Amino acid sequence: MEILKVKGGKPLQGTIKAAGAKNAMTKLLVASLLSDKKCTFYNVPNIGDVEITVNLCKEIGSEIKWNKQEKTLEIFTPCLKTSYIPQRYSGSNRIPILMIGALLGRTDEDIIVPTVGGDLIGNRPVDLHINALQNLGARIEYREMKKEGAYFAQAHQGLKGAIITLNYPSVGATENTILAAVRAKGTTLIKNAAIEPEIIDLILFLQKLGAHIRVDVDRTICIQQTNHFQEVEHTVLADRNEVASYAMAAISTKGRVFIEGAEHLNMIAFLNKLREIGGQFQVKQNGIEFFYDGELRGGLHLETDVHPGFMTDWQQPFVVLMTQAQGSCVIHETVYENRFGYTHMLKEMGADIELFTQCLGGKQCRFASSNHHHSLVVKGPTTLKAKDFSIPDLRAGFAYVMAALLVPDVSTISNVDYLDRGYEDPVGKLTHLGADITRVPAPKKNMEKGKAALQNLLLKPTEVDIPLPPL
Ligand code: EPU
Repeated sequence: MEILKVKGGKPLQGTIKAAGAKNAMTKLLVASLLSDKKCTFYNVPNIGDVEITVNLCKEIGSEIKWNKQEKTLEIFTPCLKTSYIPQRYSGSNRIPILMIGALLGRTDEDIIVPTVGGDLIGNRPVDLHINALQNLGARIEYREMKKEGAYFAQAHQGLKGAIITLNYPSVGATENTILAAVRAKGTTLIKNAAIEPEIIDLILFLQKLGAHIRVDVDRTICIQQTNHFQEVEHTVLADRNEVASYAMAAISTKGRVFIEGAEHLNMIAFLNKLREIGGQFQVKQNGIEFFYDGELRGGLHLETDVHPGFMTDWQQPFVVLMTQAQGSCVIHETVYENRFGYTHMLKEMGADIELFTQCLGGKQCRFASSNHHHSLVVKGPTTLKAKDFSIPDLRAGFAYVMAALLVPDVSTISNVDYLDRGYEDPVGKLTHLGADITRVPAPKKNMEKGKAALQNLLLKPTEVDIPLPPL
């Protein structure tokens, strides 16, 4: 176990390369399991979640050559060794549940996957996944195992295309349904589907693989059965989460960073909000440059949403950015009901943040009467104090690094594994940009303290309503 030591107060300056997207690469690996042909990927990010997914695929029989230096990965799954994903992957990340969709058309055996994990940012049920797969003809049961439960799935009679209407455009449920539909007899329509760029990347890959798949104008994805697959070469799209994270770190530290490979098309909502607060950017031929050019403005209302809205994953670093802006900013989190746990620590650093259970802003979201703190008001500018942090989830982790980079004293950050799951070489990249950040072994007592602090970070729904702030 290691911790980060960060001594901030310096502007980030220089150039870095965008990594491939975590939320595309992990799904592409699972999608490759549909076929018995070789798939080659380029721009593969060297991050923890890809490592976990590679191990999952090896578990069921994939042969994988991953050249981390070259960022290439070849995967070939000529036949399945097993369709049982061991319990030790329980809670590892959101990927095991997607194995059901990919494997249903490939085996008559029971597919057994452990319960899903992922960041503690809400309840994160998988009902939409299960309902959609059942509508395609799968039998799925949740059974208690020795330590915890697992999903048992099979489609002995084969899958049959259907019209699936998602009551929320869930990224994971859309992906799982697409994967199952590729081998389902006839045609499947997914209505109210998620259309995140990472899903479009998955669709591009599947089309190369041989799938008949199209996206209609109204969030409908149409898939026709395919059983013939081809070898594929695919370059993973850039990670828009990583790009936005470094962009915000650059601007909050009053610096200037060029991110090679940042893709303009997938950043529109983010760039609009950045411009609204006075953060500057210039789209160049091979990337985007982000820079500070005078005082940042508050007075902003922001709602996270599904694509093409402002991503929920951009929310945490954005709140840190707004601690540096002049005035108030209202943020309404509409994707996850519990994604503000990390603000405790920012408040201890001196940030002026107040949480609300009400929907602050334009629309009533799914959490309107749930008593979850899912809106906040952040007032700035604030001078933050150094802090010893324990990372509760991936994006909060980057938000803490960003906050630490604003403070001239030394902060320490534990639970760095969370950060490594989704950010490629964060210490190397930040050091390259001039940050004073090092990775050192964690003192034992820090680890105990960190674990205890983490338990408290998931916000409990409250019975007490906080009065709305004056507009
Ligand atoms: N939901 C349900 N039922 C379901 C599935 C989802 O109610 O069956 C709800 C969730 O509880 C949540 C909302 O729908 O409130 C959105 O969940 P979604 O399924 O869209 O998210 P996901 O597939 O679990 C992916 C990313 C997240 C990202 C979200 C939204 C991966 C591995 N994770 O999660 O990324 O925030 O989409 O864009 O792709 C991250 O990278 O840090 C991260 C959390």
